[in-house]
Amino acid sequence: MPQWLRLCSTADLPAEGEVRELAMGERLYCAAMVEGRLTVTDNECPHRGGPLGQGLIEQGRVICPWHAWAFDLRTGCALHNAKACIHIYPTRIEGEDVLIESR
Ligand code: FES
Repeated sequence: MPQWLRLCSTADLPAEGEVRELAMGERLYCAAMVEGRLTVTDNECPHRGGPLGQGLIEQGRVICPWHAWAFDLRTGCALHNAKACIHIYPTRIEGEDVLIESR
């Protein structure tokens, strides 16, 4: 059964139009802020494992820093290949805590 887990504090979130790697336990996540909307995804690019949280935001997409695959932050899917997707975690903010739903 899914659980809500604390990912970070709201102070750790990326600024508008930016992306950031966040660690929880031994796992890294990619957090992106676009038009005031937080999206948390897996950090590992499905192409060759690039760190998405070290990438860029362009037109509502996170761009992998290694080979520039672009992932839509609403669907999680790569622009050029709808079968190459990253998981998008449901998020919730409670006070100063940012929670994500585990899977
Ligand atoms: S590892 Fe992300 S585009 Fe290649």
